[in-house]
Amino acid sequence: MVVWFCGRSSCFNHHLYNRIFTMGHEFQYLLETKRFVWLVALVFAIFMMFQYFQFPNGYVVSSLFPVSDGQIVANTTRFHASDISNISSLHNNTSNALSPISATHLPQNSPALTPTAAVNITLSAPTIPLGPVASESDRDVSTSVKDFNGLQKNPVRSDDKSSATKDVITEDVVTISEMHDMLVHNRASSRSMKPRWSSAVDKELLDAKFQIENAHVNENDPTLYAPLFVNVSRFKRSYELMEKTLKVYIYKEGAKPIFHEPQAVQKGIYASEGWFMKNMKASQQFVTKKPKQAHLFYLPFSSRMLEEKLFVPDSHSHNNLVQYLKNYLDLIAGKYSFWNRTGGSDHFFVACHDWTPSITKKHMNTCIRAMCNSDIKKEGFTLGKDVPLPETLISSPKNPLREYGGKPASERSTLAFFAGRMHGDVRPILLQHWQNKDPDMKIFGKLPKSKHNINYINYMKSSKYCICAKGYEVNSPRVVEAIFYDCVPVIISDNFVPPFFEVLNWESFAVFVKEKDIPNLKKILVSIPESRYLVMQERVKKVQEHFFWHVKPIKYDIFHMILHSIWYTRVFRTLE
Ligand SMILES: *[C@@H]1O[C@H](CO)[C@@H](O)[C@H](O)[C@H]1NC(C)=O
Ligand SMILES: *[C@@H]1O[C@H](CO)[C@@H](O)[C@H](O)[C@H]1NC(C)=O
Ligand SMILES: *[C@@H]1O[C@H](CO)[C@@H](O)[C@H](O)[C@H]1NC(C)=O
Ligand SMILES: *[C@@H]1O[C@H](CO)[C@@H](O)[C@H](O)[C@H]1NC(C)=O
Ligand SMILES: *[C@@H]1O[C@H](CO)[C@@H](O)[C@H](O)[C@H]1NC(C)=O
Ligand SMILES: *[C@@H]1O[C@H](CO)[C@@H](O)[C@H](O)[C@H]1NC(C)=O
Ligand SMILES: *[C@@H]1O[C@H](CO)[C@@H](O)[C@H](O)[C@H]1NC(C)=O
Repeated sequence: MVVWFCGRSSCFNHHLYNRIFTMGHEFQYLLETKRFVWLVALVFAIFMMFQYFQFPNGYVVSSLFPVSDGQIVANTTRFHASDISNISSLHNNTSNALSPISATHLPQNSPALTPTAAVNITLSAPTIPLGPVASESDRDVSTSVKDFNGLQKNPVRSDDKSSATKDVITEDVVTISEMHDMLVHNRASSRSMKPRWSSAVDKELLDAKFQIENAHVNENDPTLYAPLFVNVSRFKRSYELMEKTLKVYIYKEGAKPIFHEPQAVQKGIYASEGWFMKNMKASQQFVTKKPKQAHLFYLPFSSRMLEEKLFVPDSHSHNNLVQYLKNYLDLIAGKYSFWNRTGGSDHFFVACHDWTPSITKKHMNTCIRAMCNSDIKKEGFTLGKDVPLPETLISSPKNPLREYGGKPASERSTLAFFAGRMHGDVRPILLQHWQNKDPDMKIFGKLPKSKHNINYINYMKSSKYCICAKGYEVNSPRVVEAIFYDCVPVIISDNFVPPFFEVLNWESFAVFVKEKDIPNLKKILVSIPESRYLVMQERVKKVQEHFFWHVKPIKYDIFHMILHSIWYTRVFRTLE
């Protein structure tokens, strides 16, 4: 069942293809050097005027200059683990020479950081992806498919850039707290287009927004654990309003199996798109047959099926996939007026394939895109408009919750665990530094095959920290997987926007380590006080329910959380 669609050379070509289409992002990288940031701040007022007159919805300019409100400028006085890292051990001498913080080398086992510093590291370190709910031998199968997909992605990373941009690279990581600032900023500046004509739903959405913003403060609700949330009162209010108000219209158009066939994607690493589609279609509560009542319009396609049915091996091109989706949009926009009313901003899709950002960016970028590949820098994922989708590995569709849980904190004998294929360029660095280097650090390549992948699962169930290192793309099923097995996720994937980011306080239960801090990984982990670890692990167990798929969805589960992310985005992008 392992299907390889392309060889390395074609993947390389794909890489070039992606480079061409991501030039805008490369430009963005340049703009975001620290020096430039200050220049930009100086001319901020001018740009604001420009923005006001040229871009009524403010989106273009604000996304190019995300620092323009001053909030997003990196706080350079903040302590980062990188301040003590020996960068030459990660990059070679050229980059080291240019690095502004070339460092003192600390031996790997030095006691290093004080607990205070550790907390600050935890709070200011970078971001990563989601993991799945793996449990079986078919992990290998899924992973192989992913390999292939990954190979086709554009593995553009720091090392790819010239040494002259080294200082760009080190400043190029958006921390979680900066992402929160960006979210607030984008919300204020990039609203949906004004509807061409008004509808009763517009008022309902504005009303919901008002009620969420003025939510009655109630942090002692026994059904939700407040420390997990950015603001539990708002989340609760928004969720209640979703239950009470939200109606989704599902277009009937679209041929199977690319459209309307959720059962085709019930297993493997892309399963979240299939499970979402299945649950959405089956929902009596949220689905309406009357599009005039709909707050949201669902484009029910599978990105995985799109690839499987339309991608031509060795074609080095996604053009036919892009065209297929374009034809679909032309069809629904010609037949109905709904797309036209809002320019697509009340339309959404849910897609987990790595290619989704690139194949939807030309014609579907006005939609709310729920995507696993939530790379805030490289792939054109727009915070506040797009929605990070959890990547969940489903091995047993009849029983997606099989085997969840793990050992209690006191019996977790391994400090840190990672195993996986050498996708992308972060994992080789991880192994280079930590494989066979330290008995506390169980860092491996791909583990030998075992029945139901039991070795892998046992490590996850008995380690304190589960390392979620990015592969070819920022997302990985490991994040949800770690949560599934009560293991505190350590996310090493710069610029990854984690799922349910707009409502969950990720730093309260996960550790974010910048890619360049891999040499300090053990120091960072051992410097987290045991008391804090225990708190985080307890929270991992509490946040679990929000990542569980159920054959019949239940309140606050992953289906409802995904739908809530889309609802919340729709509400906050509605214009007054
Ligand atoms: C940066 O962080 C330091 C320490 O956390 C704080 O004292 C300072 O006020 C911050 N500066 C800005 C501009 O936020
Ligand atoms: C520098 O890095 C490049 C790319 O990672 C590698 O090919 C090269 O061998 C390195 N040079 C040294 C001197 O380590
Ligand atoms: C740095 O690397 C270059 C080649 O990449 C080499 O010529 C030079 O000697 C190296 N410098 C040091 C200090 O190692
Ligand atoms: C950094 O680490 C490398 C290898 O670990 C070592 O050779 C080098 O001397 C160190 N540099 C400094 C400045 O400590
Ligand atoms: C770490 O954060 C605490 C409070 O969050 C602050 O008091 C302390 O000064 C910070 N330490 C450093 C090294 O930034
Ligand atoms: C949460 O949001 C509500 C409503 O906007 C606000 O009144 C409250 O102060 C917020 N709580 C926190 C902890 O920010
Ligand atoms: C959308 O509406 C505008 C204005 O009513 C109209 O000019 C345009 O042709 C419509 N587009 C489509 C695709 O129906």
